[in-house]
Amino acid sequence: MESAEVARRFLGFFEERGHTVVPSASLIAEDPTLLLVNAGMVPFKPYFLGQRTPPAPRMTSAQKCVRTPDIDEVGKTTRHATFFQMLGNFSIGDYFKEGAIPFAWELLTRPRSDGGFGFPEDRLWVTVFHDDDEAAAIWHDKVGLPQERIQRRGLADNYWHMGVPGPGGPCSEIYYDRGPDYGREGGPVVDEDRYLEVWNLVFMQSQLGEVRSKTDFDTVGDLPAKNIDTGMGLERMAAILQGVDNIYETDTLWKVLDRAAELTGSRYGADQRADVSLRVIADHVRSGTMMVADGIRPGNEGRGYVLRRILRRSIRNLRLLGGQEAGLMHALTEVAIAAMGEQYPELIRTAPTIHTVIDAEEDSFLQTLRTGTAIFDTAVAEARRAGRTALPGDQAFKLHDTYGFPIDLTLEMAAEQGLQVDEEGFRRLMQEQRDRAKRDAREKKSGNLDVSVLDDLLTSAGGAVEFTGYGEVSGEARLAGLLINGANVPAAGEGAQVEVVLDRTPFYAEGGGQLADHGVIRAGNGAVIQVDDVQSPLAGLIVHRGRVVSGEAQVGDTVYAEIDLERRRAISRSHTATHMVHAGFRRALGESAAQAGSENSPGRFRFDFTASGPVPPSVLRDVEDEVNEVLVNDLDVRAFHTSIEQARSMGALALFGEKYGDEVRVVEVGDYSRELCGGTHVARSGQLGLIKVLGESSIGAGVRRVEALVGIDAFRFLARESVLVAQLSEQLKARKEELPERISGVVSRLRDAERELERLRSREVLAVAASLAGGARDLGGVAFVAHRAPDGTGADDLRKLAVDVRGRLSAGPAVVVVAGVPKDRPVVVIATTEGARERGLKAGALVGVAAKALGGGGGGKDDLAQGGGSDPAAIDEALRAVENAVGAS
Ligand code: SER
Repeated sequence: MESAEVARRFLGFFEERGHTVVPSASLIAEDPTLLLVNAGMVPFKPYFLGQRTPPAPRMTSAQKCVRTPDIDEVGKTTRHATFFQMLGNFSIGDYFKEGAIPFAWELLTRPRSDGGFGFPEDRLWVTVFHDDDEAAAIWHDKVGLPQERIQRRGLADNYWHMGVPGPGGPCSEIYYDRGPDYGREGGPVVDEDRYLEVWNLVFMQSQLGEVRSKTDFDTVGDLPAKNIDTGMGLERMAAILQGVDNIYETDTLWKVLDRAAELTGSRYGADQRADVSLRVIADHVRSGTMMVADGIRPGNEGRGYVLRRILRRSIRNLRLLGGQEAGLMHALTEVAIAAMGEQYPELIRTAPTIHTVIDAEEDSFLQTLRTGTAIFDTAVAEARRAGRTALPGDQAFKLHDTYGFPIDLTLEMAAEQGLQVDEEGFRRLMQEQRDRAKRDAREKKSGNLDVSVLDDLLTSAGGAVEFTGYGEVSGEARLAGLLINGANVPAAGEGAQVEVVLDRTPFYAEGGGQLADHGVIRAGNGAVIQVDDVQSPLAGLIVHRGRVVSGEAQVGDTVYAEIDLERRRAISRSHTATHMVHAGFRRALGESAAQAGSENSPGRFRFDFTASGPVPPSVLRDVEDEVNEVLVNDLDVRAFHTSIEQARSMGALALFGEKYGDEVRVVEVGDYSRELCGGTHVARSGQLGLIKVLGESSIGAGVRRVEALVGIDAFRFLARESVLVAQLSEQLKARKEELPERISGVVSRLRDAERELERLRSREVLAVAASLAGGARDLGGVAFVAHRAPDGTGADDLRKLAVDVRGRLSAGPAVVVVAGVPKDRPVVVIATTEGARERGLKAGALVGVAAKALGGGGGGKDDLAQGGGSDPAAIDEALRAVENAVGAS
């Protein structure tokens, strides 16, 4: 049974039983306590907590998940994957254990020919929480499972929570017995390899506060209702139903694995180490593809780092298999997109962007490997010189930390050089860094994020704050909550820094690239709060941040909220301009120019999008020109709500990876641009006045950033440029249109003059060569010349001079020493003739003698060598030292 069919059957079974099929949410968790969605229930959390009303009491989904804590296990075990899909059925206060258990049993045991998964009843075992007699009774009495196949376990195994504050409850897990070949008799409590967990039924009933570990947490109360959350790993189920031993051999992953084997000329099953690499590649390429498709970009922190690590591990494993060349990731991504495209059609739609991002990351990592290799070689040379047999831990750490060089690569390359690596030192430094990061994260988190406080605020605001700012710029509201330093307070006096929640507000919270509104909130009793930031830390919640500038604000007050209209207007101009520029780039560069972020600030905006290389200046000019031409036509800017399907069919641009509800808001600028957007805009395009694109740059692999000005700021910029040009024209005594030619003429004359000067200086230096050769002294049969060139003579000239003098003395043994101070450090060059070298006088060694006197080092060949130091006053001493060495030969 194909993976897609497993999902279809699961969803279909529950749909027939009154469940609404909910599409998978984006991997980017809306929940601020999570980086990535890591369980099927994550999008349902607000329903369990009673924060939001579910679209239906019964729901079912197949949810994309990413989990990386066990990344090192991927490929080594049969079941670890960084990307997986969770099938689940959910009940919000509808059925509980008595419904969930028989449903699960029916779907698992119903024959395949009849839409089920066809498991033989006697191969199924279950576990229940140790005191959950109710669940045990349902399994026994209602389902008919014999007592000996119902096992009881404690908190560690049969209680489920998210690892963070939120819902939790006891669970009952269903296991499939793979048979005696796979391990010992005795059920899951004895052997979890033989007995594979296939389905987890969680009876969500408690609200948890602090969670310290799997088994150590605080229960703060009951959830508003008793709920069901179940999770079945699609990949594991597919493995069982496809009769393969591990998830990497199931249909979708196998396609990537097989292609990876083909591209690297390896054969799966022939070598254990190679098999692990192939499995890692299969899993990671698929994960990376899914993450990029949801809008995540490789980076150095958070989700971006998770993605970068996954992609780099794939590339690294390809290299271990001998796949060195660029383009392998492209080929594998193509397979992953095709394999997953049936379930996730957006992969096919956004394939060009996915490729751009992954190809760019491959490029940059291959470049890293090249640079890292050079650093590695230096480290090896140093270790050898110092007579060490191992590379020091700090070198391995530096390679890892600065050059992204994986430790296993360092180990392998060191082994090739017959060296070991101080792994212990490396690991110690890694641990120190990890501890530092953890401390930082903890500080950041405790500093500004307490989810339970936010939940309370949302409740006091009536479940969701109403945003009135599309139509209003001011209005009355109720002060629903006040925070000082993250804690709820009933009132706040003059001078206090506060966070304020109203039940309705015209203030726009920063989001979708649009910066927050500023303004004031006034209470009837005279209290005034100056607002300078607005955020939405939780869906539905709008938090105003600011200072009480007079009076005392109290929870429950009726207040009047008013935004800074000028700022809002300028930001709205930027936002509309961003939409137009986005449309312009897509027209010019094609579909793959997908927006990857933006910032709309007053008068200024920036816009990031995916592109494989720099955007040519001519394209920037054309887009700017087109947008300006269109905007003066004063198009209507209109916003309306519609269904996501309708919006798509109208060609509205949805932001890559953004999560949208069923109903979406579309903003259109005449016929020129149509985009899904929650931001604020101008009413007519003519209000933008003018846009000016400032330039374009790279902000990371495959992502470009365009910055631009709009309205009066664009005009002022152009006005300033015009003044600048006028000044230049006056100084150069040329008309404006003649300036480029005039400047290039001046620059090229300057360059010629510099070259001429250089030539004259060289000639002057070399002019002394003949007299130096003539004045050579005889040191025991060796002609010796020691010369100090005037300060400022370049190192090149010093070398030329030494070689020139040597040429004039080449008949016999001769040593020429030329010293000078090109900038502020002394340099010495020594040239020897063949005769001198035959007598054992080698330039490299002699330079060592000179450099020592100068307080530095140097080296080179036997015939010509250069060295330097730090003390120009020691030049005479250095020349004498060389003379003594030659004299003593
Ligand atoms: N939340 C449970 C799990 O992730 C069941 O969906 O295993």
